[in-house]
Amino acid sequence: MDGLDATPAPRRIALLGGTGFVGTALAARLAADGHELRLLTRDPRRADHLRVLPGARVLRADVHDEAALRRALEGCDTVVNLVGILNEKGFSGRGFAEAHAELARKTVAAAVAAGATRLLHMSALGAAEGGPSFYLQSKGVAERHVRAAPPALGWTILRPSVIFGAGDSFMNRFAGLLRLSRGVIPLARAEARFAPVWVGDVAEAFARALADRGTVGKSYDLCGPEVFTLGALVRLAGGFSGTRAHVLPLPDWAARLQARVMDFVPGKPFSTDNYRSLTVDNISDDDGCARLGITPASLRAVGPTYLRR
Ligand SMILES: NC(=O)c1ccc[n+]([C@@H]2O[C@H](COP(=O)([O-])OP(=O)(O)OC[C@H]3O[C@@H](n4cnc5c(N)ncnc54)[C@H](OP(=O)(O)O)[C@@H]3O)[C@@H](O)[C@H]2O)c1
Repeated sequence: MDGLDATPAPRRIALLGGTGFVGTALAARLAADGHELRLLTRDPRRADHLRVLPGARVLRADVHDEAALRRALEGCDTVVNLVGILNEKGFSGRGFAEAHAELARKTVAAAVAAGATRLLHMSALGAAEGGPSFYLQSKGVAERHVRAAPPALGWTILRPSVIFGAGDSFMNRFAGLLRLSRGVIPLARAEARFAPVWVGDVAEAFARALADRGTVGKSYDLCGPEVFTLGALVRLAGGFSGTRAHVLPLPDWAARLQARVMDFVPGKPFSTDNYRSLTVDNISDDDGCARLGITPASLRAVGPTYLRR
């Protein structure tokens, strides 16, 4: 960590995707540092829980409309883009491209037009243009757009593994599924490996990146202290929430079939694209948390505090 401001000057920060799971933690963290926040959302009701934050203002905006996005960013010196989807409506990859790649390109252009000097971009571990899923490919293209930003817009990219914490969809979903299925769960890619990172550490990583000009032009993989297989994570979710889990690892043909069927379940709780993302481990040799001076919390310690019986 070089160039760290002990008391960072208050910034005027626009947050895209600030109403979600990570955004909620990050908005609270940035507000505590005294920054002024402009929370862009497609539906202001989703930001009701954030209105109490000091210095936070909620703004309805269609972030995909380039002119509207430029207007929404006017007067902001910092832009944080957290927008992300795990599944799209169709199957073509178009929804992922719009939500990740194209929005990243538009965000860079609008931030430059607004005269912003900092862009913090949320990517994902494994993001790569040649990745196995539309999710990872579109996140990879988004990173390329961010890296191509003009030097006046100092960018930093954060790339977490799966994120856990109160309100997460990952551990909570498995805990809920286990309750419904009386603990029996046929699981695709049960051997896929993850390094779950706590949402508080992810928010801290963003806050530190913002306070440290030395992070400009750099990417940080964010991993928790332990690596778990997906099967082990499901068993932990069961243990924390009081349902003994019996994980039935599916052979690959059955996993692909399960994904094909779930593609047509409303809300796509699992999909072929998710299955493809799971064909690569979600772990990294880059210790971005350590590079930012963060000692990440462990899922074993935090899990029981929000996944209860
Ligand atoms: N959660 C994880 O385990 C994890 C792991 C790695 C990376 N990430 C990345 O972290 C970011 C935040 O994740 P999260 O878990 O906080 O997600 P989340 O709770 O689903 O929140 C997503 C946010 O993005 C906005 N959004 C969603 N779809 C959009 C669309 N089509 N157009 C415009 N805005 C849209 C939503 O804003 P409104 O509805 O208010 O407009 C919402 O605030 C994402 O980029 C995700 O890929 C998450």
